[in-house]
Amino acid sequence: MDRAETAPALRCRGVRKTFGDAVAVAELDLDVPSGSITALLGPSGCGKTTALRLIAGLESPDVGTITIDGVEVAGADGEVPPEVRQVGMVFQDYALFPHLTVERNVDYGLRGRDRGERREATRRALQLVGMEAYGGRLPHELSGGQRQRIALARALAPGPQLVLLDEPFSNLDAAMRASVREEVRTILKAASATAVFVTHDQEEALSLADEVAVMAEGRIHQTAPPHVLYATPRTRFVAEFVGDADVLPGRRAGRYFIDTPIGRLPTAGEVEADRADAVLRPESVRVRPRPDGPVRVTAVTFFGHDQLVHLQLADGTTLRSRQGPELRVVAGDRVDIEVVGPVAVFPTSATAADDHPVPA
Ligand SMILES: Nc1ncnc2c1ncn2[C@@H]1O[C@H](COP(=O)(O)OP(=O)(O)O)[C@@H](O)[C@H]1O
Ligand SMILES: [Mg+2]
Repeated sequence: MDRAETAPALRCRGVRKTFGDAVAVAELDLDVPSGSITALLGPSGCGKTTALRLIAGLESPDVGTITIDGVEVAGADGEVPPEVRQVGMVFQDYALFPHLTVERNVDYGLRGRDRGERREATRRALQLVGMEAYGGRLPHELSGGQRQRIALARALAPGPQLVLLDEPFSNLDAAMRASVREEVRTILKAASATAVFVTHDQEEALSLADEVAVMAEGRIHQTAPPHVLYATPRTRFVAEFVGDADVLPGRRAGRYFIDTPIGRLPTAGEVEADRADAVLRPESVRVRPRPDGPVRVTAVTFFGHDQLVHLQLADGTTLRSRQGPELRVVAGDRVDIEVVGPVAVFPTSATAADDHPVPA
C-alpha cells in the first residue's frame, strides 16, 4: 500500500514554538486520522492558535516535524510554504473581505485556477453549506451563523487535505451555538473532510469531535474519543478540565482496587503505583438520606433537570453527587453514599506542576 494511504492525515511530533522567552507550544504530539474531526481542547493561552498556525505554515516550529498526508511539511529538511500545503483555515473572526460578495469571498481561495473550475468549485462549496442563494450578498448582510458558513465554504472550496478551525463558534450567541455546531459537523462529514478545531469549551469538544486532544501549557495530555476521555482521564488536568470531577487520594489495594477516604473502590484501569488518585464523577455518586449517615450535605445547587449535592466526610474530604430533581435534601442533612461503577485512576503527582502527561 502507498505510504500516503496508511499515514494519518496529520502528524505532529515534538513540535515546539517559542516567542522570545514565551513558550507557546512546548512539545506537540498529535495524530489526526483521515476523515475525522479532532478537537484541540484547552484553556486560553495554552497554545492552541499557535498549534494551528504551525500546522497551516503561518509559523515555523523551532524543532519538530509536521506531516500532512504522509508528506513532511515542516522538519529538519525545511518547510513547505502555506499555499502549497492544501490546508483550509477558518479564522476565529472568519476574516471575510467586507467589500466582496459572498461568491467572491469563496472564489478568493481559488486564485490561480482557471475560471470555469473556480466558478464550479464556488458553486459546489456554497451548495455544501446551504448558501447558494446568498452569493450576491455582502458579509454584513448575513447573520453570524451564515458568515460562519461562508468562511467554511471558502476553506472547503479548494478541496483541502485538512481544514483547521480556530474557536469557530466563539462569535455566536449561546442560543445559536448548538445548532451551528451540528450544521458544521454535518457539512464537514458531507465533504469527507479531515478537520482540527480549536476550542476552550469542553461541551463543544465532546459533542462535535470524533477525537479530543486535551492541551495544557503547550502539551497534549491525552487524545481519545470523547467517551473514553471522560471515563478514563489520564492526568488530573484532563479529569478536572473535562467534565466535573472530584479527585480523591488513594492507595493501591490490588490491581483493580483502590482504598480512598470513602472506602475501597473498583477501578476502570489497572492501579500501577502504590499511591494513586481516584476520579469521581458526580453522576456516579448516589446518596441516600439517613439521620445518622456518615456524610454531611453542605450545599445543594438545583438546576431543574438535575441538582448537584455537595458532600463532606468526617475527615474533611469533599465530593459532589449529581441527582435527579426529585431528591429532597438540604444543607445539614446526613446521608449514606454509594459509588456506582468503577472509578478512573492515575498515579498521584507530588504537586500540580508535576502533572505532566503520561506517555501512551
Ligand atoms: N506572536 C506572538 N508573540 C509572542 N507571544 C505569543 C505570540 N503568539 C502567541 N504567543 C503566546 O503564546 C501563548 C499561547 O498563545 P495562543 O497559541 O494564542 O494560545 P490559545 O490559542 O490557546 O489561547 C500565549 O502565552 C501567548 O501570549
Ligand atoms: Mg487562540
